[in-house]
Amino acid sequence: MPFSWKNQKSPIVALSPMADMTDAPFGKIIREVVLRYVSESRLVIFREMISSEAVTRGNEKTLAMAKIPDSERPVVQQIFGAKPEVMAKAAKLVADKFHPEAIDINMGCPVYKMTSSFNGAALMKDAELATKIVREVKAVVDIPVSVKMRAGWSDHKECIEFAKLIEEAGADLITVHGRTKAQAYSGLANREVVARVKESVSIPVLYNGDIFTWEDYFKALDETGCDGALIGRGALGNPWIFAQIEQQLAGAAPMEVTLRDRIDTALTHLDYHLAHYGEKSLPTFRKHLAWYFKGVEGFKPYKPTAMTATDKEVIAQTLEEFYVNSTK
Ligand SMILES: Cc1cc2nc3c(=O)[nH]c(=O)nc-3n(C[C@H](O)[C@H](O)[C@H](O)COP(=O)(O)O)c2cc1C
Repeated sequence: MPFSWKNQKSPIVALSPMADMTDAPFGKIIREVVLRYVSESRLVIFREMISSEAVTRGNEKTLAMAKIPDSERPVVQQIFGAKPEVMAKAAKLVADKFHPEAIDINMGCPVYKMTSSFNGAALMKDAELATKIVREVKAVVDIPVSVKMRAGWSDHKECIEFAKLIEEAGADLITVHGRTKAQAYSGLANREVVARVKESVSIPVLYNGDIFTWEDYFKALDETGCDGALIGRGALGNPWIFAQIEQQLAGAAPMEVTLRDRIDTALTHLDYHLAHYGEKSLPTFRKHLAWYFKGVEGFKPYKPTAMTATDKEVIAQTLEEFYVNSTK
């Protein structure tokens, strides 16, 4: 059966798109970890944003980012851009060539490099352009099209009218990160405003913002009435969060992450990263390694060696030493 947001098992659980993070190796390890604990998973993976301009120019690096192994599905490919015709062309090209289950349009990125050229969150200031993009993308692909937005540009109320227009333009789902563009990452995500968006539209709405534990996920759904949630930073170095949520939903006790799980999973993720990007790509894995061991008690003395190593064996030995000394 073709993928549809309305037919997804409720509530929806998804990995939020994160540039430089939610790539194929990360999707692979997340999917694998979840399937260790539940036989059937409801997890949807949103891949990091890719530029519509780069896709239509045939940029090889960008096209490589959009490849999807079957084991990772369902996968939503996010695209960004400010020109309706280019967005439509890119969406069609990505859909025809890589067959993601759905396309997502970035209307939430707050960084200047994006908003200065009317990409990302800047589209929230121009509803006419934003809805034109949705309509033109919808017209050329036969898979669901969603929009990920912020709770407004500078005022939380702005997103309610905007969400209604996005629905009218034909979007199949909306995700709302409960911060305004002006807030960037400061303060807390506003759940009340996301609840109001959910009440104002009839398409599914996903909540996003500050879910760091499985308990946070259920609290966010209770507080917003949303159809599910996207988890971003809470999944970095923590692929277990999805397994814990799915276990809780299945009526089982959520697993506890042991140091052994952490070390083994980080090293397997590193293997996938090296296999995907090549043997010399270890330095670009350090950001993930830092997340796996962020705040882990007793890791500090091992951190300098692990974080500067250029050889996988050095990392493995250092983590093993940490394990042995921690479990003495
Ligand atoms: C490193 C990083 C990269 C991100 N890249 C994207 C992106 O490509 N597309 C997008 O819509 N949001 C992006 N975001 C925003 C997240 O998807 C998410 O909306 C935000 O982090 C709030 O959710 P969280 O509190 O669960 O992290 C990024 C966030 C981070 C931390």
